Amino acid sequence: MNPKKNKINIKTLIKKKRTGEKISAVTAYDYPTSLLAQKAGIDMILVGDSLGMVIQGKENTLSVTLEEMIYHGKMVSKAGTNSFIVIDMPFGSYQTSVTEAVSNAIKLIKESGVQAVKLEGGNSEAEKIKAIVNAGIPVVGHIGLKPQSVNLIGGFKVQGKSKAGIKKMIDEAIRVQEAGAACIVLESVPAETAQLISQKLKIPTIGIGAGNQCDGQILVFHDMMGINSNYVPSFVKQFASLEEIIIQAFNQYKEEIKSGEFPSDKESYRLNKDIEELLDESNKKD
Ligand code: KIV
Repeated sequence: MNPKKNKINIKTLIKKKRTGEKISAVTAYDYPTSLLAQKAGIDMILVGDSLGMVIQGKENTLSVTLEEMIYHGKMVSKAGTNSFIVIDMPFGSYQTSVTEAVSNAIKLIKESGVQAVKLEGGNSEAEKIKAIVNAGIPVVGHIGLKPQSVNLIGGFKVQGKSKAGIKKMIDEAIRVQEAGAACIVLESVPAETAQLISQKLKIPTIGIGAGNQCDGQILVFHDMMGINSNYVPSFVKQFASLEEIIIQAFNQYKEEIKSGEFPSDKESYRLNKDIEELLDESNKKD
């Protein structure tokens, strides 16, 4: 098979950093969203474990399983043509050992059909990143706010605000790069800290709530499209208000069912005239 010529890969991403071309990324959890993002020319699609919150309605991402990630990954990669598609390693699938991390990364790639895995952590996960890369799988790092550690941190809080915190985060980013990561997500980090890290790294930084000096940006699909009005983090810009549009459409649908306006003749199947006449005749006989 001929790989797509213009498919984004890790080399393209590094080149974008070198030339200063910003990288666009978004989460997707199903086929139609993946297709639309790719039609729009989005560089990177993440099958994020945020699906635990925005798809499953949970409070955090901790209960998401490897099987659930694979299920969604398959749908996203089915639409795959040009974007670089990354899948999250869910909580519990890599923390226990290097061996477990590599075998679960292989399982994710084999069964979902995406190109890369993402895992949260810096120093503590460097050995695992290295081993997964050695197995031939591109890895995306993730530091700053690590949602899988929400109970340890005590909430979804901004990270890297103090002098010590900034230094620690820079060290972690460098460790992740040295371990062989292709790029790194910086989540909920002050813009200045993210800028410093972006300047120090050769690999691209992808920010979410990390200011505009990162090499790229990622947002959760439901947040940016306005389908998640319960809680919208302050760093989110809503590029559409789909919730209003969808509720309005549901209301109209409900009203038209009640009034009998829907379905009209246009939306109904009709019998051929001769069959209709036959039916009429047999009705008369009855
Ligand atoms: O799971 C996810 O959607 C993520 C993004 C917030 C980067 O990790």
